[in-house]
Amino acid sequence: MANATPPHHPFWLAGRRETGADALEVTAPWDGARLATVGVPSASQTEEAVAAAAGVADAFAASPAHLRAAALDHVTRRLGERADEIARLISAENGKPLKWARIEVARCTSVFRWAADEARRFNGGTLQRLDADAPGTGRLALTRRVPYGPLLGIAPFNFPLNLCAHKVAPALAAGVPILLKPAPATPLSALLLGELLAETDLPAGSWSVLPVPNEAMPALVQDPRLPLISFTGSVPVGWSIRDSVPRKRVTLELGGNGAALVLADWASDADLDLAAQRIATFSNYQAGQSCISVQRVIADAAVYDRLLPRLVAATEALVTGDPGLEATDVGPLINEDAARRVESWVNEAVAAGATLLTGGKREGTAYRPTILENAPASAKVSCEEVFGPVMTVARADGEEAAFAAANASSFGLQAGVFTHDLQAAFRAHRALQVGGVVIGDVPSYRADQMPYGGVKDSGTGREGVRFAMEDYTYERVMVLTGLDL
Ligand code: SIN
Repeated sequence: MANATPPHHPFWLAGRRETGADALEVTAPWDGARLATVGVPSASQTEEAVAAAAGVADAFAASPAHLRAAALDHVTRRLGERADEIARLISAENGKPLKWARIEVARCTSVFRWAADEARRFNGGTLQRLDADAPGTGRLALTRRVPYGPLLGIAPFNFPLNLCAHKVAPALAAGVPILLKPAPATPLSALLLGELLAETDLPAGSWSVLPVPNEAMPALVQDPRLPLISFTGSVPVGWSIRDSVPRKRVTLELGGNGAALVLADWASDADLDLAAQRIATFSNYQAGQSCISVQRVIADAAVYDRLLPRLVAATEALVTGDPGLEATDVGPLINEDAARRVESWVNEAVAAGATLLTGGKREGTAYRPTILENAPASAKVSCEEVFGPVMTVARADGEEAAFAAANASSFGLQAGVFTHDLQAAFRAHRALQVGGVVIGDVPSYRADQMPYGGVKDSGTGREGVRFAMEDYTYERVMVLTGLDL
């Protein structure tokens, strides 16, 4: 991927290629190689994209479902055909190991496939008799879902393809024009997605991919022609967007400090081996840069002492290094600042009394998979989102204490509960203040068609193809009168 004179990538304005006045350089987190330069839209180009989205909105909302579905099917097919190339691009620009980049491409394919299916069946239509009361005699209500208008989708760096797909695919399926802003560190995957969209018959203006600088975002956020905003990223930025436009429809997918709970009945050697292997893997996949990576392990006192050595062994067995190698499990963080921040948070916890069981070393942009025991509740590694390859482990006396410890967080995205007990699974589902509870596995499991999103500081609204389509549209009722029912 490294290149002395890196290639230049235009951006996508209302479905066509454009070169901006400025350029943004994209470098590889692993070795700093210059991968590409990317055109940055000027203010007038951005304005043109917004005007085009607003201009096409009504026609796009009314376009036949089969046309939108055919475009989404096309992207699905092309993602499959170009999967290896795209995985290498994701790995290079984001630093995630190839094996995880391949999974991301497969998931993205599934998002577009689901979106094509949902485009065909989505109408929100219901028919209601209104004659249950006398004033409704001879009347029927028909309801269908209508887009609010164009969407501003703001994507993060950690899944540079699939978290763009989670904004683009449901929008197109629902007939909602989208302006996609990729993360400045990882615009290449989003621009490649633009290449696939440009091969379709989607109308001009229905999509743009704009690597707009962060400084230009407040004006776009305020633009009344963009009534929908879907943001995935940091907690302060997300909530400040929502607070700045309280009358817009804003979906926020923000952070988490996911808990994995191991209950007392998850006690056989095979159980504990599995929990240790899953937790070690999903605390460190993508160097912990996932909102649902395992950050807090809470194990019942009955199994804690047998789980801990397994967890350390499974963590130390992970292969760290060059993300471009097939064997690598854990690559670098997105940049050196991120790795230094993780380092300082671990050092702070150790200075406050935490015990370092493994890891705790930084080399450039990489940080070793790390386990901390007895981290104080006030340490950042306990109460904030580390977004790095770090887990804390804590003992709980019984199920209720484990649930309370998991809930002692300002976040509420997903939790994983290792138990075989169906009743305990239902108790966990009732008690845990999160958007999703995964039984028998880590909190990091996400199927792209299921509702995904958080409570508390973790955000508002839901992704997962159909759920995003519902967020982007509202129910409009038509009352028919004078009917001979
Ligand atoms: C996220 O980091 O919020 C996305 C996690 C995922 O899609 O697996």
